[in-house]
Amino acid sequence: MPSFPDPFVGTNPPKLTKEDLIQAIRIDIAGELEAMFLYDAHAQATDDKLVADTLAEIRDEERAHVGELIALLRHLDPRETELFLEGQEEVMEKAEELGVEFKPLEEV
Ligand SMILES: [Fe+2]
Repeated sequence: MPSFPDPFVGTNPPKLTKEDLIQAIRIDIAGELEAMFLYDAHAQATDDKLVADTLAEIRDEERAHVGELIALLRHLDPRETELFLEGQEEVMEKAEELGVEFKPLEEV
């Protein structure tokens, strides 16, 4: 399980350089992914429908947060978008080879 230190404990938060901000957002994404994993595991581990449905909704909110953070990464570093699209293209090629339907995200 990822564990990240609080880089601002006991101090006023510094203004980050662009490079540090990019790294911070990557850590934020990891935190959102970890939260998604935990909410999903807990939702699947109960027969209480109210709890399971609520946790699943929270999990989906975290998914949206991942999307927001990825959008911020793309804003800060357009190269990130190029690489994401390269990765998507590789999956599209593999899907075509295997005859698997794959719907890519719209190109930006
Ligand atoms: Fe979140």
